[in-house]
Amino acid sequence: MKFQSQKVAWGFFATCMLLLSLQLIYGFIMGFARVGMDGLHQYIPFNAARATHTNLLVMWLLAGFMGAAYWIIPDECDRELAWPKLAWLQLVALVVTGVTAIIGFHLNWWEGRKFLEIPRPLDFLVVIDVLLFIGNIGWTVWKAEKKSTTSMVLFFGLLAAALLYLPGMLPTDNQTVDSFFRWWVVHLWVEGVWELIMGAILSYLLIKLTGVDREIIEKWLYVIVGFTFLSGVLGTGHHYYFIGTPKYWLMVGGIFSALEPLAFLGMAIYAFSMAKKGGRTHPNRVALLWTVGCAFMSFVGAGFLGFAHTLPQVNMYTHGTLVTAMHGHMAFWGAYAMLVLAIIAYAMPLLTGRKIYEKASAGFAFWTSNIGMTAMTLAFAVAGVSQVVLERRAGMEFLTVQKEIEVHFWGLILAACLFTLGIGAFVWDFIRYGMPNAPLKSGEARSVTPPEALPAATVARA
Ligand code: HEM
Ligand code: HEM
Ligand SMILES: [Fe+2]
Repeated sequence: MKFQSQKVAWGFFATCMLLLSLQLIYGFIMGFARVGMDGLHQYIPFNAARATHTNLLVMWLLAGFMGAAYWIIPDECDRELAWPKLAWLQLVALVVTGVTAIIGFHLNWWEGRKFLEIPRPLDFLVVIDVLLFIGNIGWTVWKAEKKSTTSMVLFFGLLAAALLYLPGMLPTDNQTVDSFFRWWVVHLWVEGVWELIMGAILSYLLIKLTGVDREIIEKWLYVIVGFTFLSGVLGTGHHYYFIGTPKYWLMVGGIFSALEPLAFLGMAIYAFSMAKKGGRTHPNRVALLWTVGCAFMSFVGAGFLGFAHTLPQVNMYTHGTLVTAMHGHMAFWGAYAMLVLAIIAYAMPLLTGRKIYEKASAGFAFWTSNIGMTAMTLAFAVAGVSQVVLERRAGMEFLTVQKEIEVHFWGLILAACLFTLGIGAFVWDFIRYGMPNAPLKSGEARSVTPPEALPAATVARA
């Protein structure tokens, strides 16, 4: 750790671990409800569990991005964070707002708009909280003499994400208008500005972990940013096929969203080639595994499985079925969950001075969670495709079909157990790292090996 103020990242990462664990509990509640074991229904009906599951996901990913920024920005800007105490306050406020929202869902206090269920008064608190965050890192970047491409892309990605939260708050009682702007948040986040955040964090991690020259790595960042904007903005049209918007969206959405996988493909090639180019001497091999794994799995989940249902001719049948859940799981996992786990895997040894990445459990967490998530995606895929065929092609009644595909949720539960084992290992390791800069246990050695200390031979030149 170069700067004391980077310590605040630990608080955000710990929050991620807690909320991720809670998210999985709600996943199981839904999985069991789907096979008829819905004993908690009176207290946690499916809609409340679903809203809680997805909002916890978004919340821990945002906490992860904030933690990543509080770690990366001081390092890239070569100065302490502007207001570290404000960052801690902002973390507490974020958690309090989130917990209030989750309790609200259980008391039927919610907006009923998928992913934007948080009640309106709490939206304003989120906005204030995010403004404090943006102000803190913005001021740090502004005051810095050194402004790296990575830090600028990260900052503008986060700023744009904050601004794009606002269209979701436009008051309207028109269903189409509401849906239209809901996608400005949901789609333009995950298939637009969050990709910038992802590009920047991957760039930072690759610079640190491979030892390849910053110039080469950052050049790729521009290519990815370019592709993202070229395809992602008009790609929003793939959500405007059937919501009451004009017909031209069928063409616009189909063409531009079909180009979107290119940005993810670019990121996968970029991560693989940088990892190959660079030396393999950085001791934190597991962090590199998460980094390259993130680029690869995001291509599979977002690029490949997104493309699978993005053309209007296909989406007409798959829209709103479990095919969407199949894609949603692998895309969120590959692109953003793995990204946050990658930065945590990288930063924790430097925060605490302990090299847990050498333990077998660190590799176990990576492989088990990824195999588990792949199996979960397959279970959703089989359920989704069966649903499409029976309901939309054979014309069977909705609930009859839901009963018919119940068996696949047993498959989901089994796969989710494997996945949870992997995540359990990651969370357990996080707990074992202990507090930032905690004293070492006997027999352990400090592990801080900054890339600058790598042998020159491992640093590839242009
Ligand atoms: C224990 C593991 C998990 C289980 C059992 C689980 C189960 C479920 C279930 C049953 C649904 C509702 C599907 C439906 O509409 O019937 C759901 C929704 C969702 N879950 Fe999970 N989940 C788990 C972990 C995760 C993880 C790790 C992520 C993200 C990285 C995730 C992201 C989502 C998303 C985005 C949705 C909404 C999908 C949509 O919009 O259709 N889940 N999950
Ligand atoms: C990391 C990036 C991505 C994430 C996290 C993601 C996640 C999701 C989620 C959660 C949904 C359900 C949203 C809702 O119904 O409210 C969704 C829908 C959809 N996604 Fe993605 N996605 C990503 C990238 C892509 C890409 C690149 C494509 C196309 C190539 C794509 C195509 C679609 C389509 C067509 C739908 C609508 C499904 C329907 O009609 O029900 N996604 N995505
Ligand atoms: Fe989209």
